[in-house]
Amino acid sequence: MRNVLAWVFPVLLATSGSAISQPVSLSKQPPGANPSLQSVSEIEQTARLLAILLDSGRYVINENQELVDDPSKENKGFTPKVFEQQLMEMFRSRSGIDLQELNSARLSRNAKEMLATLVAVSKKVVAEAQPEINRKGVGFKGFIPAVFGSRVAGRFREATGVRLKQTALSPRNPSNAPDDFEKSVLQEFADPSYPREKLISQVTAKSKSLRLMFPLYTTRQCLTCHGEPKGELDKTGYPREGLRLGQNAGAISVVIPIQR
Ligand code: HEC
Repeated sequence: MRNVLAWVFPVLLATSGSAISQPVSLSKQPPGANPSLQSVSEIEQTARLLAILLDSGRYVINENQELVDDPSKENKGFTPKVFEQQLMEMFRSRSGIDLQELNSARLSRNAKEMLATLVAVSKKVVAEAQPEINRKGVGFKGFIPAVFGSRVAGRFREATGVRLKQTALSPRNPSNAPDDFEKSVLQEFADPSYPREKLISQVTAKSKSLRLMFPLYTTRQCLTCHGEPKGELDKTGYPREGLRLGQNAGAISVVIPIQR
């Protein structure tokens, strides 16, 4: 396995759907997994599905924001189970994969295990947020897509070694600031002529990892915080970015370590 990537791809810039099939193996396996050979295209597919799953969770939180922030209700009924059902529905409509039938899905074993771990971690974050969500008499509680996403990403990294990050060119939270690779891709995404939903991935021998950037676009609900009027504070206390509906709002960055 040593040096496989060193001679294969000094630097490779590929886009979604590229057919690459050099064998490499993941350096950190999710709990219970046996090390197994993976092709780069399989790892790229795993990265893409992880980004869609994290983003689906963000959207479910976004869609339930009003409910979560309703000060007149104590028990919101937004339980981990309810969240999971909505998450699975959203993921299925976006990826075509039914997480309830994961075993029969045509995916690598590693992809299946990673996806199952990400669902479990996402549910756990919603479970732990129950006292926050059900706090009585409080309107805005700060449990928003980005906060959910960061908590999930932290736990997922602990469990798998895979990094998931929400990033943008002018981030609100400095810990979401892009590195050089992320910045150059975000600049491409920000170009209005950039094809919608086309993701960018890269494998470098030096970093021993596969990196993938998945673009995010604003929905109506995002605009209550990230929309117009630019500069005016939103309910979280940050100045609005002045984004418009459907505009690129940043990306989910995925880094999967690859063993050499
Ligand atoms: C309730 C207000 C609110 C809503 C709604 C909201 N965001 Fe955010 N967003 C924030 C805040 C606050 C942060 C910074 C969170 C932190 O401290 O990490 C953030 C962070 C982000 C980031 C990470 C980069 C950064 O600026 O730190 C991205 C990307 C992002 N939001 C996109 C979106 C998208 C896309 C939507 C809609 C699906 C959305 N947001 C909905 C308030 C909001």
